[in-house]
Amino acid sequence: MRFSFDGKEIEAEPGQSVGAALIAAGYRSWRTTRHGGAPRGVFCGIGVCFDCLVTVNGRPSQRACLTEARPGDRIEPQEGAGRDDLAC
Ligand code: FES
Repeated sequence: MRFSFDGKEIEAEPGQSVGAALIAAGYRSWRTTRHGGAPRGVFCGIGVCFDCLVTVNGRPSQRACLTEARPGDRIEPQEGAGRDDLAC
């Protein structure tokens, strides 16, 4: 099955996390830090560090390592905390 990331089609296995699918597709970073814009991707892989944040179908600050990839999902990279109007 496929989802989109930054407008590109990404292949994923059923049950695979967005983070695992992005790594398998060759991505190592997809978020930038609020201060300094440093690149971030999967670090802990277990939902603790929040380095892997992405925007999923318009919802910012979702952890890619814990988010199951679903067919047709629209995943976007994230700058800092994402959209200020939706961030919590
Ligand atoms: S990699 Fe640490 S929360 Fe996802």
